[in-house]
Amino acid sequence: MKIFLDTANIESIKKYNDMGLVDGITTNPTLLSKEKGNPAEIMRQVVKIVKGPVSLEVVGTTTAEMIEEAHRLKKYGQNVVVKIPMIPDGLKAVKKLKEEGIETNVTLIFSANQAILAAKAGAAYVSPFIGRLDDAGQEGMAIIREIVQIFKNYQFDTNVLVASVRHPLHVIEAGKIGAQVVTLPPDILGKMLAHPLTDKGLSAFLSDWEKVKRENPNLT
Ligand code: E4P
Repeated sequence: MKIFLDTANIESIKKYNDMGLVDGITTNPTLLSKEKGNPAEIMRQVVKIVKGPVSLEVVGTTTAEMIEEAHRLKKYGQNVVVKIPMIPDGLKAVKKLKEEGIETNVTLIFSANQAILAAKAGAAYVSPFIGRLDDAGQEGMAIIREIVQIFKNYQFDTNVLVASVRHPLHVIEAGKIGAQVVTLPPDILGKMLAHPLTDKGLSAFLSDWEKVKRENPNLT
C-alpha cells in the first residue's frame, strides 16, 4: 500500500518525508489556498522534496485549457501527475495527455461507473472521495470495494487512490480491500503513528532503566 500526503504544507511534507512515510503527494486548489506564500513556489518545493508522484490540479474546464495547464504544471518536474476533474472535457484531456505520455489523476470521483470511464480514458490514477460520500450518508468504502474488484476483473492498470480520508479506520479498510494508494491529511497520518500504550510503555522502560542506573553507578 502506498501512502500519499494530501496537503501542500511544506512543514508536514518534510516531517513525514524524513520518516520515509511519503510515497507521493496530492494537492488541490483548496489545499493550496490554505497555505501562505506563492502557490507556484510551494508547488516547486513540493516537487523537489518528494521523489514520488505529486498530483497538481488544473483549474481550467475545457479540454484545451486543461492540456495547456498540464504542460505548464509538468514543467515543475518529471514526477508531476496532472489532476483532472471527472467531466467530459476532462476525459478528453486525459486521453490526449496519455497519448503524450503525461500521467493523470482523475479527481472528484463519486461512483464506480465514473472510475471505469476514467480508467478507459487512460487515467494513471482515479481518486474516489470516500469521506465526502460518508458525509452525504452513502458508504464511501463501498465504491472502493467495487472499483478494486472491477479493475482486477479486467486487469486495468489504473491505480485506485483512496481520497477524502477522514480517519485511520478508512486506511485499514482500504488496505484490506487492496486499494493501491491512500492519500492522507497529515493529521490522520499522525493519528496512525501514535498509540497511548506506546508512550506508556516507553515511559516505563525509561524510568525502570533509571532505577537500574542508580543501583549500578558504573553502568555505561
Ligand atoms: C484528493 O486528492 C483530494 O485532495 C482530497 O482527498 C479531498 O479531501 P476532502 O474531502 O477532505 O477535501
